[in-house]
Amino acid sequence: MEEKNNKKILVTGGAGFIGTNFIRNILKTKPFFSVVNFDALTYAGNISNFADISSIYDERYRFVHGDIRDAAIIGKLFDEEDFDIVVHFAAESHVDRSISGPEVFIDTNVNGTFRLLEASLKKWNMNGKPDDFRFIHVSTDEVYGSLGDTGYFTETTPYDPSSPYSASKAASDHFVKAYYRTFGLPAIVTNCSNNYGSFQFPEKLIPLIILNIMERKDLPVYGDGKNVRDWLYVIDHCDAILTVLEKGKQGETYNIGGGAEYPNIEIVELLCDLMDKKLNRSASRELIRFVNDRPGHDMRYAIDASKIKNELGWSPRFRFEEAIIETVDWYLNNTDWVDSVRSGEYRHWIEKNYSDRSVVE
Ligand code: NAD
Ligand code: TYD
Repeated sequence: MEEKNNKKILVTGGAGFIGTNFIRNILKTKPFFSVVNFDALTYAGNISNFADISSIYDERYRFVHGDIRDAAIIGKLFDEEDFDIVVHFAAESHVDRSISGPEVFIDTNVNGTFRLLEASLKKWNMNGKPDDFRFIHVSTDEVYGSLGDTGYFTETTPYDPSSPYSASKAASDHFVKAYYRTFGLPAIVTNCSNNYGSFQFPEKLIPLIILNIMERKDLPVYGDGKNVRDWLYVIDHCDAILTVLEKGKQGETYNIGGGAEYPNIEIVELLCDLMDKKLNRSASRELIRFVNDRPGHDMRYAIDASKIKNELGWSPRFRFEEAIIETVDWYLNNTDWVDSVRSGEYRHWIEKNYSDRSVVE
């Protein structure tokens, strides 16, 4: 895609973990880009993530509170603004929540994506089908299902989702691809591995474990802790999305991975040791509790990122061993943020779910 000044980007779900990092990165590094952050502010969205920078970037940043399931509000937004790019992050994103309450995953991830595709298509047609418009759909490697001890997910691995979350993301990916093939909407799908870094909601493994160690609470490890995830630093992921929107080919899929595979138990033990050093403590490993496994728990995820590397020139810049220390430091230095996102709803959810999980050791 040709570089053009003054691009306007719609970011959906920009008040969540990855969207926040993406917008902050763009505002700082891309002076010709302006951003509209459209977010429903569910439990996972936090508008104060921009409190320190929104006045600095006043002219290039706008927040719109709204729900991607609401065709009327999305239609109004597309009437008001001419977007060059849509980067679609908004989703329900937590596997455990999709097991205890799948319906909202279908509503937001499938129907919400459909609404956004419809609005984008309508405006793209009205504007004369510009070839450089991009709809970037941010998805997950979980759509490919589970790997055994060997092998990697490529862009042609058949979809085989296990959880209601991954099934809903798979369905949304198919809709995005269908809108490219059927209507020509210039869309791209990215499928990435597990992200970690600043601003991640503390229901996901890494921030949950960091905070539980800080507070000397039990560290719940599902099953035997041998499930493997391929960890991607969120800053690397944001760079990859920028690369895709600048150089990616419409209609294509790009897998994005960190190339850092670890069994969960190793992540938890590493965090215990790191935090013991930082907090001048010992024996955090004694807090580890093996608990009942997650139903349908995928064994291993691992991304083959050679397509984005060879065709677009992206590869991760950060080493896991360094970026995990940065992440721990961020949580230690941002306890106010943690307190503010742990709302009553979150506390209620975590209490209910963890009281249902019995320790199995
Ligand atoms: P998140 O849960 O932290 O944030 C999601 C954001 O979407 C929140 O700000 C929330 O308020 C907003 N949102 C939810 N429902 C909405 C709706 N109906 N309308 C408008 N906004 C709504 O998620 P994340 O971790 O930042 O993930 C972003 C995207 O990346 C998701 O699509 C997710 O599937 C995908 N992804 C995430 C990871 C990961 O490790 N976090 C890995 C692979 C893919
Ligand atoms: P999670 O962060 O929920 O991401 P995902 O399910 O999308 O991979 O979980 C990462 C891994 O850690 C996954 O294998 C489940 C496991 N896990 C635990 O062992 N304990 C926990 O408390 C959580 C939240 C996850």
